[in-house]
Amino acid sequence: MSSNSFIIPGKEIAENIQEKIALFVEEQSKKNIFFSLATILVGDHPASQVYINNKIKACEKVGIVSNHKNFSDKTSFSVLKEYIDTLNQDSFTDGILLQLPLPESMSKNATDRLLCSIFPQKDVDGFHHENISNLVQNKECFIPCTAQGCLHLLKKVNKNLVGKKVLIIGRSQIVGKPLALLLLHENATITMAHSYTENLKEECHRADIIICAAGQPNLLTKDYFQPHHIIIDVGINRLSTPDGPILQGDVDFQAAQNIVKAITPVPKGVGPMTIACLLANTIKAGCQRRNISLPNFFI
Ligand code: GUN
Repeated sequence: MSSNSFIIPGKEIAENIQEKIALFVEEQSKKNIFFSLATILVGDHPASQVYINNKIKACEKVGIVSNHKNFSDKTSFSVLKEYIDTLNQDSFTDGILLQLPLPESMSKNATDRLLCSIFPQKDVDGFHHENISNLVQNKECFIPCTAQGCLHLLKKVNKNLVGKKVLIIGRSQIVGKPLALLLLHENATITMAHSYTENLKEECHRADIIICAAGQPNLLTKDYFQPHHIIIDVGINRLSTPDGPILQGDVDFQAAQNIVKAITPVPKGVGPMTIACLLANTIKAGCQRRNISLPNFFI
């Protein structure tokens, strides 16, 4: 079906960034400088396995060395902490990523302590308290990858976000909250919506830009959309249909694509951008550690 909306080409934009990263990595390898990302998966959460595999494949594609370890879901806090400590001390490891969510047996507090045991300078997810604190203060830090990816896509459509009314649906630590901070630093006007928000439709109508990260398939349907809207759909919901499994965003894309000004597709929208930002953060960690100047992969 043809579309009246501009479909924001997340996958192409991400590939363009990855090509620049690959060139830089190749250049550095001639000087015997190699970049490395350690990924940790605990348990066998099916979606997490797919995400981790995509991250490893992307590393291979650009020439970043990946070092993956899969622990059983029964692994204790202290074993994981010890492994993270080893990676912190490992001179070959630039970035460390602990895939979330951890198994339910791991408390929120234990998860937080594990995330904060990663050295802030190797915390390519930007989840360490030190990085979060710097993000709040608009200081140099590692920015969570999905939030960074969403901002980059938005800026491709709308370079100047000053005074724009942005509605963020979803207040997660990984996406909604860091994105609100990033957009505040762009001088946008932010509204955060969540499961207790009343009259979400009205909030949508008031917004110029809607970023939906609620994790609810088809949360936004036809009546929510207006022709001036720019929509970033962060949702990646795995649904089973009679034709097999599909990925469905939080937005009814079929309805939106004939109404709104611009929208990201699912898949091939925000997902590839998250990975491109992870690769960029890994290179940033490696450059900072070695005092090499970091190219801007995003221009
Ligand atoms: N789970 C879902 N998204 C992410 C992410 O960006 N980083 C990590 N570590 N886990 C996730």
